[in-house]
Amino acid sequence: MPSRVIPVDPFDLVIFGGTGDLARRKILPGLFRRFCAGQVRKDAQIIGAARSDMTDAEYRALVAEAVREFAGGRACEDGTLDEFLTCIGYEKVDAKGEGGWRELCARLKDDHVHAFYFSVAPGLFGDIAERLRHFGLAHEDSRIVVEKPFGHDLGSARALNATLAQHFDETQIYRIDHYLGKETVQNLMAVRFGNMLFEPLWNAQYVDHIQITVAETVGVGGRGGYYDKSGAMRDMVQNHLMQLLCLIAMEPPARFEPDAVRDEKLKVIRALDPMTPHQIVRGQYDAGIGEPSYRDDVDDARSKTESFIALKCHLSNWRWAGTPFYLRTGKKLRDRASEIAVVFKDAPHSIFGSEAGRHRNILTIRLQPNEGMELGVTIKEPGPGGMRLMDVPLDMSFAEEFGPEAEEVPDAYERLIMDVIRGNQTLFMRGDEVEAAWAWTDPVIAGWEARSDVPKPYDPGSSGPDDALMLMHRDGRKWREIRP
Ligand code: BG6
Repeated sequence: MPSRVIPVDPFDLVIFGGTGDLARRKILPGLFRRFCAGQVRKDAQIIGAARSDMTDAEYRALVAEAVREFAGGRACEDGTLDEFLTCIGYEKVDAKGEGGWRELCARLKDDHVHAFYFSVAPGLFGDIAERLRHFGLAHEDSRIVVEKPFGHDLGSARALNATLAQHFDETQIYRIDHYLGKETVQNLMAVRFGNMLFEPLWNAQYVDHIQITVAETVGVGGRGGYYDKSGAMRDMVQNHLMQLLCLIAMEPPARFEPDAVRDEKLKVIRALDPMTPHQIVRGQYDAGIGEPSYRDDVDDARSKTESFIALKCHLSNWRWAGTPFYLRTGKKLRDRASEIAVVFKDAPHSIFGSEAGRHRNILTIRLQPNEGMELGVTIKEPGPGGMRLMDVPLDMSFAEEFGPEAEEVPDAYERLIMDVIRGNQTLFMRGDEVEAAWAWTDPVIAGWEARSDVPKPYDPGSSGPDDALMLMHRDGRKWREIRP
């Protein structure tokens, strides 16, 4: 069942940092795929803006290379790429000076939506926002897109919010968390709020615990400079895992509208209890055979930054009081596998006796790879021999259900950029959400720093340090296996 494509209004998208890694890997290939799908119209303008001297033709060559490398597919060969390139232009712009701004203004069309993507270091956000205002580009119908990291702590996030607020209204600011653009993450809302089946059970009375795992096989090689100052808590938990937690735990919003959804997410973050050290396990990957350790990767033999974190948190509200949420994420783990598992409580009494064993319903929401959902139900083992029970999955795998078209499911960036053009902020973080998330993580990080906490080493290709397993075992529970 192919997805329905509704073309977006004509737009001009300026990518500050248009020659950078994110633009090459995600933004430009994503736009190309939307162009192929017919969602981006031929009169759209995509303008790279950066410090380097470059002509339109040179930038088009860069874009073509990026698209071939990261978007691939037949469309590159059948002439669509050449058509797409006619939408591309380049302007050398000085983010801290006057150079290039007038020329940039001259390129933009009055009757187009104007969007400005800040794919640059956060230190430049203020300068760019100020110039957009100064040159008349911060008008009512323009919008800006900002990337993570949105601040390093509460203080810096507040300062960034304040800087942007001088030039743009909150309704014009699109803070990207690409996890919100993932297909299954949105499906989570559809499943929760579009069905009668789950919502009555979605609370502490019926749910034993919830596990959220985002496991990666890659290390931090190449990004060590950034990562070593962040660690898994800042890089993944404060944003991506927090957003997943919000969507799993929030109350049904009155409407599927940006502020209604974001109000409910904010309440979840604010309901999080403060953390204590015994609720958290930090890890750092060791060297493997022929593989560098984390410390080699970041070139600091004494680094105390975590490349893995597991934690148990609680929400103080009526729905969730007493249900723990276990979160874990890490680099160089055994598989690339991200999922949310809602583990329901045991039936209150087993009519089949203790020999029937323990059986539980688990709803698994798989983010990647093999996006889909699976509900574990208990049935009778087929055949004679009495009432033996077994657990089988009711499987809703997108790839199987939707056939070959499932490959066309847009990548998170594609979807989010189209939402920017449509002016829909539902899947973007509001300033107060980001600040509330930092307000929760800051004291945890400050505690590590005060105690000079050293992460536990773990083997690359493992499931993280043993202490993370203990975090669950102590509660009589266990992590689900990390597998795709
Ligand atoms: C980024 C983090 O935001 O998300 C990276 O900075 C991480 O460290 C990445 O690798 C994971 O994204 P995805 O979509 O590959 O799960």
